Amino acid sequence: MITLGIETSCDETAMAILGEGKCVLSHVVASQVEVHRPYGGVVPEIASRKHIEMIGPIFIQCLNEAGIAAEEISGIAVTRGPGLVGALLVGLSFAKALAFALGIPFVGVNHLHAHIASVFLSDDHPQFPFLALVVSGGHTALYIVRNFEQMEIVGQTRDDAAGEALDKGAKILGLGYPGGIIIDKLAKGGNPDAYAFPRAMKDSLDFSFSGLKTAIVELLRKKGGDVLPSELPDLVASYQEAVVDVLVDKTVRAAELYQMSEIVICGGVAANSRLREKFSAVKDKKVFLPPLELCTDNGAMVAFLGFCLLSQGASHPFELNALSRWP
Ligand code: KG4
Ligand code: ZN
Repeated sequence: MITLGIETSCDETAMAILGEGKCVLSHVVASQVEVHRPYGGVVPEIASRKHIEMIGPIFIQCLNEAGIAAEEISGIAVTRGPGLVGALLVGLSFAKALAFALGIPFVGVNHLHAHIASVFLSDDHPQFPFLALVVSGGHTALYIVRNFEQMEIVGQTRDDAAGEALDKGAKILGLGYPGGIIIDKLAKGGNPDAYAFPRAMKDSLDFSFSGLKTAIVELLRKKGGDVLPSELPDLVASYQEAVVDVLVDKTVRAAELYQMSEIVICGGVAANSRLREKFSAVKDKKVFLPPLELCTDNGAMVAFLGFCLLSQGASHPFELNALSRWP
C-alpha cells in the first residue's frame, strides 16, 4: 500500500508519501512563514490562496522524490480539521479530486490525532494505551490514547494554547514571528528564574495561558514600556519556563492519575529545546518525543494515521466537509 498524506490546516502546505507501513518515500513541507511575517501572524485568506498556489507543485515534487507515478498511490489521507476552514478545504478538495481521478479511497483525519501518530514513524514507539500531550500553536490537550480511533481528552486549555502564548509573548516584546522558535533560541542565554511569571490552574489538568500575556504587558508597563536588549534573555527564559513548567507538571500528574507508564509529547511546541530537556529528565515514565521535523506540521504524520485507518477499511464519501473545531 502506498499512502499520500496531505496537510493544509494552517500555514504549511505539506505532503508525504509512505511506502509499506511507515517507510517515508518523500516528505515535503512548504512553509508560508515569510508570507505571513509582515502581519505578525497567520492571515487566513492569504494562507488559503498560498495553499492553492503550492499544492500542485508540492504534489509533483513529492512524486518525483518518491520516484513513483500518481497511479501507484493506493490511498489518500488528508487533514480534515481542526484548522482554518479555507486552508483545510484546499487540501480536502485536492484529495477528493485525486481520489476520484485515480479511483482510490481517501480518509479525512484529525490534525491533533495525526500529531500523536507522528511518534509511530520512529522505530521506538509506545504501546497502547498511553498518555499524549499535544502542544501546538492552536491547541494544548492531554489525551488518553487507547488506539488510533479512541482518544479521550482528559485536560485542555481554557484559553490560549501554549504555542499561542509563546507567539503572543514574542509579539508583545517586538521579537517577531513565529515567536516560539525565537523565544527558544533567545532563552538559551537567559536565567529561567529571573522573573516570576504565573503558573495557572495548579490543581486541574486543564491549562490557562492567557494570564501570561497580561503579566508581560504589566511588566513592560512597570519598566516604562521598554526592555533593554541585555534584559531579554532572562525575560524570555522566565516566560518560557512558566509555559514549560506547567506542561511538564500537568502531564506527569495526568500520567500518574491514569496510571500510564508511557508519555508522548507532540505538536510544534514539542520542538522546544527546554521542553525536551525537562521531559527527558522525567523519571519513572518513558517519554517519547518525535524528531524535530515531525513536531511541526507535516504530511508524514497525516499519511501514517491515514494508512492505519485505511488498512482497517475506513474511507470517507466525497460529501466530507472540513471542520474548524474538532471535537
Ligand atoms: O503544530 P504546529 O506546527 O502548528 C499547529 O498545529 O499549530 O505548531 C506551531 C506552533 C507555533 O506556536 C510555534 O511558535 C511553535 O509551534 N513552535 C515552537 C518551536 N517550534 C515551533 N515553540 C517553541 N519552541 C520551538 N522550537
Ligand atoms: Zn499542528
